Amino acid sequence: MSEKEINIRYHEYSSLDELQAQDRALAEEAIKAMQGAYAPYSHFHVGAAVRLSDGTVVRGANQENAAFPSGLCAERTAMFAAGANYPSKNMESIAIAGGVHGRLAKTPATPCGACRQVMAQYQTKAGKPMSVIMVGDGVIWKFDRVDDILPLIFDSI
Ligand code: THU
Repeated sequence: MSEKEINIRYHEYSSLDELQAQDRALAEEAIKAMQGAYAPYSHFHVGAAVRLSDGTVVRGANQENAAFPSGLCAERTAMFAAGANYPSKNMESIAIAGGVHGRLAKTPATPCGACRQVMAQYQTKAGKPMSVIMVGDGVIWKFDRVDDILPLIFDSI
């Protein structure tokens, strides 16, 4: 038996101004995307913005439904829209922002497990790392690749 350890490296910023221009623009798009949330049950508004290889940005926001499993997270709304509308373009980065009643939360919005799995597959499809930016009010985290938020990714294809 040997004990192993997995280390995760990420970057923390205290202001959007500290981000690289492209990342900052994507984070701002995610914040704007929160306005598209339809969250009559949780009142938690989440926005996501995906940047494609040619610079195109596709937004998404969480969409809830009375039949609960029928709703969808902001991240998957954005990624599926990007995949459906720009099937030949790689997803390079995704930014996520969220907060109660549309007010950006202090703690960065962290994606759920299902959204991480979907990110992992689009990253595999692209054959290049997809960075993940989680935006909070005064705290921003950037992970350089999906592997860093989903260690030991399931990838059978
Ligand atoms: N939600 C997202 O949109 N993204 C996540 O990563 C986690 C949760 C949404 C789903 C639901 O509409 C609301 O936030 C509360 O869970």
